[in-house]
Amino acid sequence: MRDWMREEPIVIASGKGATLTDTKGNTYLDGNSSIWTNLHGHANPLINKAVVSQLKQISHSSALGLANVPAAHFARDLVEATNCGFPGKNQFSKVFYSDDGSTAMEVALKLSYEHSRRSGQSKKPFFLSLKGGYHGDTVGAVSLGSIDLFHKTYKNLLFKTDTTEAPYCYRCPYNRAKPQRADARTYVKCGKECLGSLEKKVASQAKTKQPFTAFVYEPVIQGAAGMIAQPKGWLKSAAEITKSHGLQLIADEIMTGFCRTGPLLASHKEGVAPDFVSLAKGITGGYLPMAATLTTETVFNSFLGEYGEFKSFFHGHSYTGNQLGAAAGQASLDLLKSGKSESQRAALENQLRTSLTMLWESPFVGDIRQEGTVIGVELVRDWKTREAFSLTDKAGIRVCQKMAQLGVLTRPIGNVIVLMPPYCTTARQADKMVFALSHAIQSELGNRPL
Ligand SMILES: Cc1ncc(COP(=O)(O)O)c(C=O)c1O
Repeated sequence: MRDWMREEPIVIASGKGATLTDTKGNTYLDGNSSIWTNLHGHANPLINKAVVSQLKQISHSSALGLANVPAAHFARDLVEATNCGFPGKNQFSKVFYSDDGSTAMEVALKLSYEHSRRSGQSKKPFFLSLKGGYHGDTVGAVSLGSIDLFHKTYKNLLFKTDTTEAPYCYRCPYNRAKPQRADARTYVKCGKECLGSLEKKVASQAKTKQPFTAFVYEPVIQGAAGMIAQPKGWLKSAAEITKSHGLQLIADEIMTGFCRTGPLLASHKEGVAPDFVSLAKGITGGYLPMAATLTTETVFNSFLGEYGEFKSFFHGHSYTGNQLGAAAGQASLDLLKSGKSESQRAALENQLRTSLTMLWESPFVGDIRQEGTVIGVELVRDWKTREAFSLTDKAGIRVCQKMAQLGVLTRPIGNVIVLMPPYCTTARQADKMVFALSHAIQSELGNRPL
């Protein structure tokens, strides 16, 4: 906080497309889509129009005991679009709205908990999540998370969960491969020990009085863990293992949803249909705070009863089903379905992939992980040894500060630099982001290993 107090922050005044402008008139590229929320760029004319037109009708009315048209239509379309990616399945049928990623996870957690109890699966539901997982900052979401820096302090405030190994190939103790100038997933040498230990853990817990009831994960790429991208097929295998022991699947697609990794959901990429999917961030194209937890008819039926049975899901937020959010979400979803957006995303993904190869020239770049338009560049003291910077070296922070001077805004996760631009980013803008990163690494860390 002292650093924050010492420095003058950049104060954002406006945005257009992939560009942000501060109160002094300086312009920047939005290199992390305003903390992974923005999809189509700022001031998108179609989303603006949808929000303004909704504003003329009504901004908000309670969804507790009432319905509204934009939220109902958006829920219908969300279900249809997400089901499309699981051919032959009508996986989801219900949507529960809330306000942000953390609340979308709380909703999934509570629904899963109570469904497990009511269906006779368990009297004491027990959650398994991935090491390095991040699911939000509310207490339930923190209980599922395992990033010591954020979560350890609150240990005694949390309920008990367990974690399993995530496939962090670059730093996996079982990876016998020497470092190479490529994404570690492409040259990893291991016996898939992470899947073996998952199998063992779930099976041995099944013999106890408190078997696991649900597996909680960020599919395809774990965000706040440091953009830890999973090898192809990993999630499918993990889902097969956990499902064979009767666990429900809770997919946190708060970062990965809405085509960030390619298809609408990252779950579609692996063909893994979860029992719950939590969506937020990009749900409104990055315009307004809104979230949704989608689930199955089976889960819904656990909460269906006559008044006196009191089976309702007693959970609701004041701004649930907000009309302005739903209008923005609807416009954003319609945009995503358009051919133009699809080709923009494919072009951006390829442009970034090509441009990023220049970073291998730096001895401080240890790993570059890309899934769709999500990128994590892991900085190390020396790529040949994978020696990590200590957090107090502030390598990531320094590089991002330099990038800001060069007109590109993003935020590091420790020593991992994130690039995740809006889909409207042009080829030149994408190149500028990567050049700025390359230049910043050179300027802050030099040319030779430390
Ligand atoms: C995977 C994931 N889940 C949950 C959250 C929490 O979302 P929010 O910050 O909207 O509460 C985040 C935020 O970064 C996230 O990346």
